[in-house]
Amino acid sequence: MIILRSIADTRAALDSWRRQGQTIALVPTMGYLHEGHMSLVDEAKKRADRVVVSIYVNPTQFGPNEDLDKYPRDFARDEACCKAHGVDAIFYPDNAVMYCPDHSCWVTEESLSQTMCGAARPGHFRGVTTVVLKLFNITRCDVAVFGRKDAQQALIICRMVRDLNVPVEIVVAPLVREPDGLAMSSRNKYLSDDERRRALSISAGLNQATALFAGGQRQAAALCDLVKTGIANAGGKIDYVVVMDRDSLRPLATVDRPAVLAVAAFFGKTRLIDNVFLD
Ligand code: PAF
Repeated sequence: MIILRSIADTRAALDSWRRQGQTIALVPTMGYLHEGHMSLVDEAKKRADRVVVSIYVNPTQFGPNEDLDKYPRDFARDEACCKAHGVDAIFYPDNAVMYCPDHSCWVTEESLSQTMCGAARPGHFRGVTTVVLKLFNITRCDVAVFGRKDAQQALIICRMVRDLNVPVEIVVAPLVREPDGLAMSSRNKYLSDDERRRALSISAGLNQATALFAGGQRQAAALCDLVKTGIANAGGKIDYVVVMDRDSLRPLATVDRPAVLAVAAFFGKTRLIDNVFLD
């Protein structure tokens, strides 16, 4: 496994694989890798001859009062994880490699990013789409794999690739949970034992809502209320609980088409997101 720190080295290494007729899959991450990320790597390995993991805590997707400085980082551990999973290369740039001091071009998605995390975190998705397009341009990957925990992010990236004719196939892999149901996230590390226990109300609420939906409930408000009550009773601060059309991310009153029931809530200072699909 090779560690690539510069764009020139990355292009040279990946071009040499391409010259041998090999295809390349990219798994973009911000590091502090967990089993959820590794499931993306496993998916990537099925889709291409070579797998590149990018590890970069992208400053432009964090708001001024967010957790950029304390975002967990442990490159040695990430490196060991990638090696153990048969990753071919890690692209591990620093800020000077990724952003010129006078960087002034951005990719902005103007519809799907208006709601949910986009409404709660102004500028977040502009930072995500910009860095992801840069990663695509740097690696010229054939395939890129994203996780469904960030369902809105995955949808926005698919829209960007479609609208800007980016020649990359996007694969969205299933959400991975801890054995007790908590959606895996690098930010789970911030939770105290008590917060973590209370945060299980998110996945429990989503499970109950899924069961209610399976039993025939189609009113979005009833499904959301169930989730909200569980989180509020556990002392969580709700950012949003919504049922959205899965293609347009427009709110649904009645679930009469493929939908996503999505949650963002704070336990302590930690903002967690989770979702289930309603089909
Ligand atoms: O999902 C993430 O970890 C990040 O948003 C991504 C896609 C790596 C872009 O920085």
